[in-house]
Amino acid sequence: MVTGAAGFIGSHLAHALVQAGTVVIGVDRRDPATDRTAAANLSVLRGLPGYMHVTADLLSCAIDPLLVDANAVFHLAGIPGVRPSWGPRFGEYVASNVLATHRVMDAVTRMGVPRLVAASSSSVYGPTDGGASVETDRPQPASPYAVTKLAEEQLCLAHSTQAHCPTSVVALRYFTVYGPRQRPDMFTHRALTAALTGHPLRLYGDGHQRRDFTYIDDAVAATIAAGTLPTASGVINVGGGSSASLLDVINIANSLAGREVEVHQENPRNGDVLTTRANPGRAHEVLGWQPQVDIHNGMRAHMQALAAESPAYGRAA
Ligand code: NAD
Ligand code: UGA
Repeated sequence: MVTGAAGFIGSHLAHALVQAGTVVIGVDRRDPATDRTAAANLSVLRGLPGYMHVTADLLSCAIDPLLVDANAVFHLAGIPGVRPSWGPRFGEYVASNVLATHRVMDAVTRMGVPRLVAASSSSVYGPTDGGASVETDRPQPASPYAVTKLAEEQLCLAHSTQAHCPTSVVALRYFTVYGPRQRPDMFTHRALTAALTGHPLRLYGDGHQRRDFTYIDDAVAATIAAGTLPTASGVINVGGGSSASLLDVINIANSLAGREVEVHQENPRNGDVLTTRANPGRAHEVLGWQPQVDIHNGMRAHMQALAAESPAYGRAA
């Protein structure tokens, strides 16, 4: 089962699993019949034998029947995004990231599912000195979102340590994932869209923030390894090895599109950290994983996907 299957990472993961011959049940509360983003994300899966989609809210739906014969649950459903979590939507973050996760863990325990992979976040580390974060570092979440992601991963791990729980848990701390179908609130999507359309880009701060950008196919490969390798457990960083600043991202977008993005600088946003950087040692050791796609090639593929979505973009590209 893939939860959050109508989302960015979940739809790529479900597609990769089905292509590998796995039978997948995808669950998401966004209904592709009425939600355009969900429909677009799920279009690659439509009609594929081996994929069944269920529109349901994990806060209230019956989860057990979806888990009959499940070998693994990939729990990607959640409310992402650092900046809006300060606002009135915080209750939704708590509900989907914490309360729904508790329901999912209760269900996998009852149904005897052997493995659950939880989508955690680099944001749980909080501010760093610029060095690479190791899984044993003390988390210092700097936003309400990050607090809920830390709660989510620790909740899953707490369930799994109960004597009666048959489920081993792997919590993946993804570092800023990008690529085709990336959420439109995220920076890479916005920089590439600005480069393609000529519309201005809003830059929160001076652009020297750095992220360990992770290409979607690499994130999916790590996730599948986490769901299938019998020895995998605990918390694992999934960071793409492409440390780049926002200014670097703008420069790459400029060179890919052959035009200068018009940048409107604004104040830094609360809860944003200056740098994220993954120590990838545990991912390599436990999952045999290392990222394959660098930021230049990844952004080129991302831009081509955006250009293909709109003929108008295509002309600019
Ligand atoms: P997304 O918003 O594209 O996908 C999340 C999906 O979860 C959405 O389709 C949403 O409808 C669904 N969902 C939310 N609450 C639900 C509920 N109660 N019941 C059923 N479905 C529900 O986000 P994404 O970027 O694909 O992120 C997926 C997961 O990975 C999230 O948990 C996010 O916190 C985590 N994560 C993402 C990134 C990143 O860079 N994208 C980095 C770190 C962690
Ligand atoms: C991303 C995801 O949005 C989170 O859901 C995820 O948990 C997190 O990665 C993670 O790594 O764990 P973030 O790193 O904030 O969070 O990624 P973006 O939303 O792409 O923002 C990156 C930087 O660009 C931030 O400093 C942000 O302030 C800046 N930004 C974003 C802008 O300057 N302008 C924009 O229009 C959007």
